[in-house]
Amino acid sequence: MKKILVTGGLGYIGSHTVVELQKAGFKTVIIDDLSNASVDVLDGITNITGERPDLEILDLKEKEAVSEFFNKYTDITGVIHFAASKAVGESVENPLLYYENNVGTLVYLLKECSDRGIKNFIFSSSCTVYGQPDSLPITEDAPVKPALSPYGNTKQISEEILADLCNVSDIRSISLRYFNPIGAHESAEIGELPLGVPQNLVPFITQTAAGVREQLSVFGDDYPTPDGSCVRDYIHIEDLAEAHVVALKRLLSEENKERFEIFNIGTGKGSSVLEVIRSFEEATGLKLNYKIVDRRPGDVTKVYADTTKANSELGWKASRSIKDALSSAWEWEKQVRGID
Ligand code: WQD
Repeated sequence: MKKILVTGGLGYIGSHTVVELQKAGFKTVIIDDLSNASVDVLDGITNITGERPDLEILDLKEKEAVSEFFNKYTDITGVIHFAASKAVGESVENPLLYYENNVGTLVYLLKECSDRGIKNFIFSSSCTVYGQPDSLPITEDAPVKPALSPYGNTKQISEEILADLCNVSDIRSISLRYFNPIGAHESAEIGELPLGVPQNLVPFITQTAAGVREQLSVFGDDYPTPDGSCVRDYIHIEDLAEAHVVALKRLLSEENKERFEIFNIGTGKGSSVLEVIRSFEEATGLKLNYKIVDRRPGDVTKVYADTTKANSELGWKASRSIKDALSSAWEWEKQVRGID
């Protein structure tokens, strides 16, 4: 049985993808440096699928360790690459950390794949590459704008590296541009585990509801949107994880039309911050404590996906609702905090 390497496989999106890969019959091996994930996630994955993935705890910046990994695992047929730093604000403060960790390690990994004949490479990208788009919904051929942060720039540069490499090698790659992943696995065995104060909206909502945070601050309600708060395309983490299995199967069966393909992975629907709050309250029956504060620098007003290409060519479509996602996020938060 061929194996799939999942880098960052103990992380939020990585762990949910490992579950879907194992459910689809793939053997998986995870590389994680535990910088933003707990090894306990392995138990959660195993509890869901009944099968424990292999795990190698290593830093992808350590070239020798990466090479030894591939000497040990000689049956890797595909790679799904999640491992990267992803805090927008931190990337502004410490750009070199992001260029080394996100771009440098991608180059090492691709060199190993190239040298060892590993042809199938799925890349974790982000709608952040679009910046504030000129028109909505966003299609994959929308102009990639100058990145709003070094983090976003690393995603743009990484896609360019993949495109260039696929042109001159046997490697075939698919870049999945995620919109806003939210929610948790229906079992509440795995979910989002932000370190420290959550930067993202939904974990801050669930931690406020759990009493971990005093109050949610809504960053601005004076945007040119129906209710004044920013609009995003929130996609259930399980829909997002399933998209990776579909993309991998596309490469393994050589159904890809180009050597390097890009797909938007969103729902195609925009929801405002205030709408998300209302959906959370409806889904849980709770009243959320929040206040409107000033805008957050760097936020784009409105961004949501045109998913026509993923629906028609990839044959994937998000099926879960934002309320499903918010309910699952709350069930996970209660599990983490020991709340009945
Ligand atoms: C969503 C909306 C905030 C927190 C980021 C990254 C992106 C991707 C997903 C990695 C915005 C508002 C948030 C809060 C709030 N990550 N908000 N109060 O910024 O769209 O995307 O995460 O790939 O690259 O940029 O997500 O969840 O931070 O914010 O009002 O406490 O919620 O202003 O409008 P974002 P987010």
